[in-house]
Amino acid sequence: MAVIKVEDIAHVRFACPDLSAMRGFLEDFGLACFEDGGRLYGKGSDGRPFVHVSEPGEAKFLAVGLRAASVADLEALAAHEGVVVEPLNAPGGGMVVRLTDPDGYVVEVIAGQDCAAPLACQTPLFNSADAKPRQRSAIRLAPAPAHVRRIGHAVLKVSDFRASERWWKERFGLLTSDEIEAAPNVALGAFMRCDRGDVPADHHTIFLAQLPGPLGLLHAAFEVESLDDLMLGHEWLKARERQAAWGVGRHIMGSQIFDYWKDPFGNELEHWTDGDLFTAADPPARQTMQALLAVQWGAPHPMFAGKIAPPPGLVAWITALQIRIRRLLSRTPKEA
Ligand SMILES: [Fe+2]
Repeated sequence: MAVIKVEDIAHVRFACPDLSAMRGFLEDFGLACFEDGGRLYGKGSDGRPFVHVSEPGEAKFLAVGLRAASVADLEALAAHEGVVVEPLNAPGGGMVVRLTDPDGYVVEVIAGQDCAAPLACQTPLFNSADAKPRQRSAIRLAPAPAHVRRIGHAVLKVSDFRASERWWKERFGLLTSDEIEAAPNVALGAFMRCDRGDVPADHHTIFLAQLPGPLGLLHAAFEVESLDDLMLGHEWLKARERQAAWGVGRHIMGSQIFDYWKDPFGNELEHWTDGDLFTAADPPARQTMQALLAVQWGAPHPMFAGKIAPPPGLVAWITALQIRIRRLLSRTPKEA
């Protein structure tokens, strides 16, 4: 039984040496930006006070925010962890419990923020062969940044997936949507969603991945209005010579149409639209690393986009070997 069940991701927090450079990028990316108390905030159109925070300092990922259902849940979490519930010193107010996960990531669990009403979508409805909600109106799209609606998920590299999975699930009630295996019975990570009972939740809110290389945030992802909105955003960022990372394509796990970009400080941010939603009744699945890196259509993963692409099977084999070696080395002499 989890201590609490979080409702969603709330924000990501970074430090950067140049807030105006960060602001220029975030506005091209489609966030509405404002400064308050020496910090830069980016907000979407969902009415929440912010989804992205930057504070002055050496470029660094600082924290991920999760949204609890109530301040009472924060009190339960704080009591379990032996910490205090503090006022959240940020636009919108509210309260926060700050925790540190097994790899040292700061997790800010918040509740009680003041929110405005969500704004209506700007881009037109999409007609399919089956359903044609747009009638008697033409599509006329003007160049513009995408319209970020909300933050959707964050992907963190971890040093021991099973230990991190336990920590995050025990505290926040996350459910596995897809567990990724580098080889049979060698799990490298999992896409995890919020347990909202019968209310459908995004396929993933947090993805923990035990991958080679230094720890850190792999990316944070923001939902945009529609495919049109995502493509307009792509053209806008490309025209401003922002650094593209991967996209446009459609993922397998989660099914999102995706488009990844780097901010001026090397942090990767994703635009996505049309992702899968599941309730608590939907069972977890197992997937291969090949499926993680493959696409249903669109741009191949950058690892495979070069002229001499390593076969996905080889990448999975090497990753599995690294996880097995690490597992072996981390055992006590008695266990070994
Ligand atoms: Fe993503």
